[in-house]
This record gives sequence, structure tokens and C-alpha cells, in this order.
Amino acid sequence: MTSSSMDLLFALLLLTSPVALVKASPSVPAIFTFGDSIFDVGNNHFIKNCTAQADFPPYGSSFFHRPTGRFTNGRLVNDFISQFIGLPLQKPFLELQIQILNGTLKQFPSNGINFASGGSGLLRDTNKNMFVTPIQTQLQQFQTLVEQNQIEKSIIQESLFLLESGSNDIFSYFLPFKIQTLSPDDYVNAMLTEVNKTIDQIYKLGARRIAFFSLGPVGCVPARALLPNAPTDKCFEEMNVMAKKYNTRLEDIVNIIPTKYPGAIAVFGAVYGITRRFQTFPARYGFSDVSNACCGGGTLGGLVQCGREGYKLCNNPNEFLFWDFYHPTERTYHLMSKALWNGSKNHIRPFNLMALATTNFTF
Ligand SMILES: *[C@@H]1O[C@H](CO)[C@@H](O)[C@H](O)[C@H]1NC(C)=O
Ligand SMILES: *[C@@H]1O[C@H](CO)[C@@H](O)[C@H](O)[C@H]1NC(C)=O
Ligand SMILES: *[C@@H]1O[C@H](CO)[C@@H](O)[C@H](O)[C@H]1NC(C)=O
Ligand SMILES: *[C@@H]1O[C@H](CO)[C@@H](O)[C@H](O)[C@H]1NC(C)=O
Repeated sequence: MTSSSMDLLFALLLLTSPVALVKASPSVPAIFTFGDSIFDVGNNHFIKNCTAQADFPPYGSSFFHRPTGRFTNGRLVNDFISQFIGLPLQKPFLELQIQILNGTLKQFPSNGINFASGGSGLLRDTNKNMFVTPIQTQLQQFQTLVEQNQIEKSIIQESLFLLESGSNDIFSYFLPFKIQTLSPDDYVNAMLTEVNKTIDQIYKLGARRIAFFSLGPVGCVPARALLPNAPTDKCFEEMNVMAKKYNTRLEDIVNIIPTKYPGAIAVFGAVYGITRRFQTFPARYGFSDVSNACCGGGTLGGLVQCGREGYKLCNNPNEFLFWDFYHPTERTYHLMSKALWNGSKNHIRPFNLMALATTNFTF
């Protein structure tokens, strides 16, 4: 960012928010992350009866060279953001908790904690039968640590809070064996009610720097081949329409955070648009395949999970947008992270993560 655009940002902030600005320097000591598989760095691996897993080969093969429980071949968006800030990668809460209980670890690490759980949603019942950790429980886990003074209050208010959830709720809405009692609009409303509760709760616990990401084009995932009503030669528009409806209203919620919650600042990461651009101009971003899973089986590679019996692995994961039936490759996450870190307002607004992370505010 040029100094004049930084000055402009400062001026705008001073005019529009009650937060006073001191100076620019890296000032985020920790990252706290909540959500689903887009962010899960291995929590599900520590839930014995959880069936949403990515803790077997070839998950992790391109970067960690072993499965870590991440649902991709390498790092996730939250990992890249952590690296851009200069922090060690956050560990899964459930692993840290075990290490504290068995005495391997004296206290929770100072670089933050990852609470995300693959397969979970904003709605408590989403994929309940898979024993995932819903966002309400993730927040409860965080709240307990704060109440027990296991995390310092002063660290919390300087920390970055990364949030993303909802893709699994929307995908579940279209499952053929589900009896839906809610209309799409009422369902999206129910999701947004949980978004509001989430923000209320983290604010009360001290969160002040908040980044909420939109859903991606859920209707384009290879796993749509599992749904009898979804086309496989193009994205499932009905599902994308619902994701876009949620995203638009999420952005409204994010925009009013500074007024509704004094001292808080928040940004909206437009992951939907970022991903659509990769799909519309694949060559520009070095992709040769933006439809099929690199690792999986059946139609679009979407019928068999990567690593499960009968799967196939592509030779060039860096040229694929999708790693497995639901999830992007590390390369896609890297491009996405760069757009969110120091991209323009098309990608993240009202300012980017770099500005959110490196600007000092007095709260
Ligand atoms: C699954 O695990 C959770 C937590 O470990 C436990 O509360 C729950 O009772 C278990 N459910 C079954 C069916 O084993
Ligand atoms: C404590 O738990 C961790 C995480 O599961 C494990 O790797 C480690 O071996 C355990 N240590 C002891 C002393 O039991
Ligand atoms: C969420 O909160 C915003 C701002 O307070 C409010 O306008 C909106 O109606 C709420 N949405 C839901 C679904 O509760
Ligand atoms: C954006 O951030 C990346 C990663 O830190 C860096 O390599 C790149 O130079 C930055 N670009 C701009 C324009 O600041």
C-alpha cells in the first residue's frame, strides 16, 4: 500500500469510526479462527467418532508431506494469513486441550487457537450425525478459555478473528433425503441469526478486529454430482443463488459492526467473487481444470472422497482449482489468501487484511 492510500485509509477511519488510530506497524499477536473445513487445521482428527475426516493420505501431501487433518493438499487460507503476519501456524484447539490435560503443554500458545471443524455449519444440526463441532460449541470452547483466564484480555483485543461458515448448511439444504420445512429465505435468515449471535458473543469476549468471509460458489463443488437434481456440466445455480443471498446480507451485517459494536472494526472477504474469477479466467491464474477434483473418484471426482477406496490422484494439483469433492487446492487457497491480504476492494472491503492487521487502533 502506498503511503498516500494509507493516509487516506487513516483519514477515512478517523471520520467514520469511533476507533482512534495511532500508527502503522505489525500488531496482531494472535489469530482466533472459527468455522468449517475451509479453516479446520485438524480439530476433527481429535474427535473419536467424527466421520468428517481428512487425516489420511494423500491429504497434506504437497506441503506438510503428511496428513494433518486439513481438507486440502497443503496450507489453508488461515495458514497463509498467519504466515503473512509472521506468526507460527495456529494449532487445533482439541489437540492443545489434550496436551494441556496430559501435561505436555503448560499453557495455551500465544499465537492464537484454531477452533474450526470440517463439516460444521452455522446451524447446530448441520451434519450433526457426523459428530462435527458446530460453531456454537466452538464459541463455547473459546468462552470457557476466556472465563478461565487462559487467554489474556489484552491479547484478545489486538488479535485477528477469522470467521467463515455456512457452505455446509447450504449444501445440506439440497440433500434429497432431508425434509425441508423452511423456505430458502427463511433458511438463510436462520443462518444469519447465528451470524449475529456469533458476532455478539466474540465481541462480548473482547474481539475487536474481525474478518468475516463470504461463502464461495458452493453450487460449483464437484460433490454436487452426489445430488440427483444438480447439473454436472455446469454449476448448480439454485445453490449459488442461495449462497449469494446469504453473502449479500452477511456484508450488510459486517458493515454495521463498527456502529453496533463500539471499538470494533470488521472486513468482509468476498470469497465468492474471488473464486468465480478463477473459474471464469482459468488460464490467467494458471489453472487447467476448474471443474474436477484433483483427488477423488466418479463424476467430476465428486463421488468418492480423496484417499478413500477407488480414488484417483491427478499429476498436477497446482493446475486444479479443486483438491477433493468439496475443497480447493492449496494453490487456490494461496491465490485467495493474497487477494484477501493485500487485494483491492473487489476482493475485501472496506479494507484488506493487511490494513486490518498492521494498523494500530486504540480501543
Ligand atoms: C461422540 O463423541 C462425543 C464427544 O467425544 C460424545 O459426546 C458423544 O456421546 C459420542 N457419540 C457417540 C454416538 O458415540
Ligand atoms: C499428550 O497428547 C499428545 C497429543 O495427543 C500426544 O502427542 C502426546 O504423546 C501425549 N503425551 C503424553 C505424555 O501422554
Ligand atoms: C442481524 O443483526 C442486524 C443488525 O443488528 C439486523 O439488522 C438483522 O435484522 C439481524 N438479522 C437477523 C437474521 O437476525
Ligand atoms: C502482497 O503480499 C504478498 C505476501 O506478503 C507480497 O509478496 C506482495 O509483494 C504484496 N503486494 C503488494 C502490492 O503489497
